[in-house]
Amino acid sequence: MDKFVIRGGNPLGGTLRVSGSKNSALPCMAAAILTEEEVVLENIPQVRDIETERKLLTSMGAEVELGYGRAHHRTTISCRVLSDPTAKYEIVKTMRASSLVLGPLVARTGMARVSMPGGCAIGARPIDQHIKGLETMGAQIDYEHGYIEARAERLKGAHILFDKITVTGTEDLLMAAVLAEGETVMENCAREPEVTDLAALLTAMGAKVEGAGTPTIRVRGVDKLHGAKHRINPDRIEAGTFLVAGAITGGDLHVTQCKPAHLAAIIAKLQECGVRIEIAGEDQIRVRSEGQLRAADISTEEYPGFPTDMQAQYMALATQAEGASLVKENIFENRFMHVQELVRMGANIRVDGRTATVRGKTPLSAAAVMCSDLRASASLVLAALVADGESILDRVYNIDRGYERIEEKLRGVGAQIRRMGNVF
Ligand code: EPZ
Repeated sequence: MDKFVIRGGNPLGGTLRVSGSKNSALPCMAAAILTEEEVVLENIPQVRDIETERKLLTSMGAEVELGYGRAHHRTTISCRVLSDPTAKYEIVKTMRASSLVLGPLVARTGMARVSMPGGCAIGARPIDQHIKGLETMGAQIDYEHGYIEARAERLKGAHILFDKITVTGTEDLLMAAVLAEGETVMENCAREPEVTDLAALLTAMGAKVEGAGTPTIRVRGVDKLHGAKHRINPDRIEAGTFLVAGAITGGDLHVTQCKPAHLAAIIAKLQECGVRIEIAGEDQIRVRSEGQLRAADISTEEYPGFPTDMQAQYMALATQAEGASLVKENIFENRFMHVQELVRMGANIRVDGRTATVRGKTPLSAAAVMCSDLRASASLVLAALVADGESILDRVYNIDRGYERIEEKLRGVGAQIRRMGNVF
């Protein structure tokens, strides 16, 4: 299992390029199920979850060519033949976002067999809203041997009101609705940019979608969709992580190929902490800090609020800020896996239910730490960049799930970081 070796203390300086968004790419790849024609996606990030999605689609009979070597990372997906509309447990257990194939499979083939996602490090993460929506659209749902079986001759347009705001639930049912008979109105939808990105691809494929990015999405079902070409949005969470890297190390970074509009809540919070942020053009942000940071509270909310996927990274920064920062995690019930590891590095953090109180500024000392979930791992990288000494981060496959060659990118702006294969 690969490890990272990181020696802290270097202020980062230079340019960091942001890759395509994993959380846009996953639903857009699943959308290819909806047509027998080829779908071409550009700017797909080279991360483990994309490889998992490739395996999932090819296990159903799709042809997927990940184009990392090619210009624009041009990936082609052809679901002309879907011989086995099943998402097997072996794959789903490694990536919960596999549930994104549920809606498109039922819409395209009339049936889907998807393993119930198992537990997850950050919470129960049920998919009851996905299932309830499909039932409302007329799907027959059965459960057996740990699988959900959904069947429908043809889904019917319906009025869907989400009990909870769910990103992949919105995406899954949006993909179900585009081939349904009649109109579907979905209320209390997620407004994340990844939903809007998916809707842009579906529209390019011939779908009739209005309101993506707002709480109410209207879909007029069509009989067939055609192939399309689409460029995936930049990854706003990777961009946010890089902004924190510049701030926490007291550096001066240009974060490029990003969409500043998607980072408004993160930028506002960093500025509240005393970080200097300049929007330098439509796809570039400059972040500078002389290291004096002020404490500021966060409360994670659905988009456009402060994203839960940036909570762990922000907590690392808060350990270096003067004062007490309250970090409230409202989206997931167990997303403080990074706390104990940060405490082992010298942070002063107390957790009470869903709120962590971070008291800073505390010097961090290098340690051997364990990566757990994707964003907790990013938090440990950020802490190690300012810790005194050399930290060893184990199980970095968690980071590789959502960050494209992060050690190469960070080394390129002055970080002392290297990947170490299993030494025994
Ligand atoms: C997406 O997960 C992202 N993943 C997550 O990013 C992100 O943390 C999350 O949205 C919240 O922004 C992808 O897009 C692939 P939810 P998702 O459904 O869709 C509850 C990362 O780090 N819920 O919006 O699975 C759920 O338990 C990952 O890149 C139900 O109760 O999250 C959670 O408490 C981690 N029933 C809340 O809603 C449902 O049917 C929000 O979950 C669905 C969700």
